[in-house]
Amino acid sequence: GVDPRLQAISAAIRVVPHFPKPGIMFNDITTLLLRPKVFKDVVEIFVDRYRDMGISAVAGIEARGFIFGPSIALAIGAKFIPLRKPKKLPGEVISEAYVLEYGTDCLEMHVGAVHPGERVLVIDDLVATGGTLCAAIRLLGPMQIEWKACLYTCRVPFLELPNQVNLCQYSALRSLQ
Ligand code: PRP
Repeated sequence: GVDPRLQAISAAIRVVPHFPKPGIMFNDITTLLLRPKVFKDVVEIFVDRYRDMGISAVAGIEARGFIFGPSIALAIGAKFIPLRKPKKLPGEVISEAYVLEYGTDCLEMHVGAVHPGERVLVIDDLVATGGTLCAAIRLLGPMQIEWKACLYTCRVPFLELPNQVNLCQYSALRSLQ
């Protein structure tokens, strides 16, 4: 059956039309963060699903993956890896550019943060076009990374994913489809 916590999680996310640009429906998780029980439920759902699966690292996508990722990492005994926007990381980085609904951007990861064969859980608040997720997968792909999780999924069926990745690797808690 459907997890009863999901309805409260879904209801706690505020949808803001025409932000940050006309035509964009912005899914605002800050309203969810104001409700500690719901915030805790989000973390616990991911912890329950991904503990004891040999995951050694949680990679959080800037910025909202930094809100949920570290709590999940600590609870499952994994390290946390920030995947950052350009020119934020001081060490040697690898970079992947991507196209967003409202512009273009780039994700960077420190070289040496993760090693080949590690199992990494990628955390972000949502997938829209999938551009950000695909960039994260390209960053981690050479490492044989397997797992991806998102709080919220809007249009996953239209994702064009790298060959070795399939939709079973997503765990969407909510879908607008
Ligand atoms: C949002 C969201 C995801 C991404 C999803 O972040 O948090 O990371 O967009 O969009 P996509 O599937 O079309 O790539 P945003 O780029 O607004 O960055 P921010 O969290 O730093 O504000």
